[in-house]
Amino acid sequence: MVLAKTIYDVDGRILLNSGSLLKEKYRARLIEMDITEIYIEDSISQGIEVKSVVDQKLKMAGRSLAKKTFGSIKAKKDIPFNEVQDLVSELIDQVCFNTEDLMRFDDLRVNRDALYGHSFNVALISVVIGRFLGYDELELMKLGTGAFLHDIGKALLPDDIAGKNPLNESGKTFTAHTKLGYDLLSDIYEVSPLSKYIVLSHHERPDGLGYPNAINGVKLHQFAKIVSAANVFDILTNSTGVAKMPIYQAVEYLIAMSGTLFDKLVVDTFIRHLALFPNGSQVKLSSGEKGVVSGQNKNAPTRPIVKILSNSSARLENLMSNLSLVIVG
Ligand SMILES: [Fe+2]
Repeated sequence: MVLAKTIYDVDGRILLNSGSLLKEKYRARLIEMDITEIYIEDSISQGIEVKSVVDQKLKMAGRSLAKKTFGSIKAKKDIPFNEVQDLVSELIDQVCFNTEDLMRFDDLRVNRDALYGHSFNVALISVVIGRFLGYDELELMKLGTGAFLHDIGKALLPDDIAGKNPLNESGKTFTAHTKLGYDLLSDIYEVSPLSKYIVLSHHERPDGLGYPNAINGVKLHQFAKIVSAANVFDILTNSTGVAKMPIYQAVEYLIAMSGTLFDKLVVDTFIRHLALFPNGSQVKLSSGEKGVVSGQNKNAPTRPIVKILSNSSARLENLMSNLSLVIVG
């Protein structure tokens, strides 16, 4: 197999260049490093372009900066806030430059990292949702900054407590990370009050049962609601996280909990723009045929356009035109 996209390690170093031949020994090593999904070139995927929401370099820079930020706090040094601003600004540029209506799920994350990658993932998902909700660049800056920094209070918790499952954890020490993060930022005048508010309020819930202030949903700012949903979505689906849930289950969870844990408009907006079967995914249809997703239908994420290869000839099947066909795997 020939690699279609360059593979990077968690520090942004190139492991294998696109165009490389994927040998068996590389394969074993990649699995060992928890890199279980790659892009390959083959006849069936020819002509199918896999676009990224943001480039790999930015994802890796985001992960490194999160690590640096947490490290600075632990070492009682200044938070590298200018670098955070530059990163979020670049993130917004790349998200807004992308004109696609549907975002690929695997694009919305840096895999293989539960804490530092998570900070970047939550910023990316939040900015994507914010963009589709129509916020302007200045507002997206406040949203993205608060989202990127949302868990910095964890840098002040003992490691064993910081690493606890945020979906079940209600202990006083753990939940204090919201207020601790807020206090860390309180003296930095360059950080907007709204970004600080996000750090404080990302575990609040529309039903008023969140923490630390149990703010009622009507009074809770939309940005806290966005970051809350982005946070849980990444925790649920992160390959190194506690849940490791398949995406459709995470989507079902967001829908089931919208109105109580999550804001309905936020969840609807996110899901409407999520490509459940991104271009390049291999799928199996109810007809028994196998194919590769080659295009998307707006507002119908479960019904993409599939390129089917049978008897060495390829044909395109638009699942919106043929409603009797569904993806079964
Ligand atoms: Fe948190």
